[in-house]
Amino acid sequence: MPAISGGHRTLADALPISGEGPVVDLGCGPGPTLRALRERLGPELELVGVEKELPALEESLAADANVRPVAADLREPLPFADASFEAALCHNTLECLPDKQAFLREVARVLRPGGHLLLGHTDFDTTVFNASDLELTRRLVHANADTQENWMDDSDGAIGRKLVGIARHSPFELADAFAWVLLDTSFAQGGVAHGAVRSIAASVRRDHHEDLAARLDEWVDDLRALAGRGEFLFSVNDYAVLLRR
Ligand SMILES: C[S@@+](CC[C@H](N)C(=O)[O-])C[C@H]1O[C@@H](n2cnc3c(N)ncnc32)[C@H](O)[C@@H]1O
Repeated sequence: MPAISGGHRTLADALPISGEGPVVDLGCGPGPTLRALRERLGPELELVGVEKELPALEESLAADANVRPVAADLREPLPFADASFEAALCHNTLECLPDKQAFLREVARVLRPGGHLLLGHTDFDTTVFNASDLELTRRLVHANADTQENWMDDSDGAIGRKLVGIARHSPFELADAFAWVLLDTSFAQGGVAHGAVRSIAASVRRDHHEDLAARLDEWVDDLRALAGRGEFLFSVNDYAVLLRR
């Protein structure tokens, strides 16, 4: 369930980097974490963004001569030489990869000794809405957490809480673990809660939860009413592990 995203500044700030570079973002999407790294570390650091298809990077990154977009399938060996990166990031992508340890072995190979991987994931099953019908809300949240979109090769709506265990079975040393909360109290268009509601609606339709789909309008109307009274709240937990090669 990948539509909720945020915390890119938190991720960029948590990655130890000397500035030597390059730094790679594996499953970078349009590049929100790369942009946060650029803002933190200045224009000289070489950044690499990897996506299954050549990434459609946001405008500032597409125009940045020190950002290299690379097309590669993260289920396969990475198209980089041994020890070619100072550091790596991977956020909200691991759930899509069927063999998580094979991927981590490849990341360890392309990192220099002492280099860090920051591996983060939203735990979608921790999604909270203040809504009048708690039972309906729980069912919608779970349906959404458990869905697998057609571009994903695997899915795990509770992967955030498993990162520490995954890290301990990887070739890396677990250096640290973090958690933060994405919070939205406004229900504004374009906000993180709005994105989550769109994702929930798409999930229940995709997976033919007809009973839940029939109650979506009622549920969203209730959220709007709560927002109108200043009582709306959405949150979801994000977890990350810092791994040392
Ligand atoms: C939910 S997005 C996360 C994007 C970004 N890291 C973020 O936190 O906003 C997951 C990304 O992983 C990419 N992805 C999924 N499976 C992949 C694979 N096998 N190889 C390369 N990229 C993949 C998807 O294309 C998608 O852009």
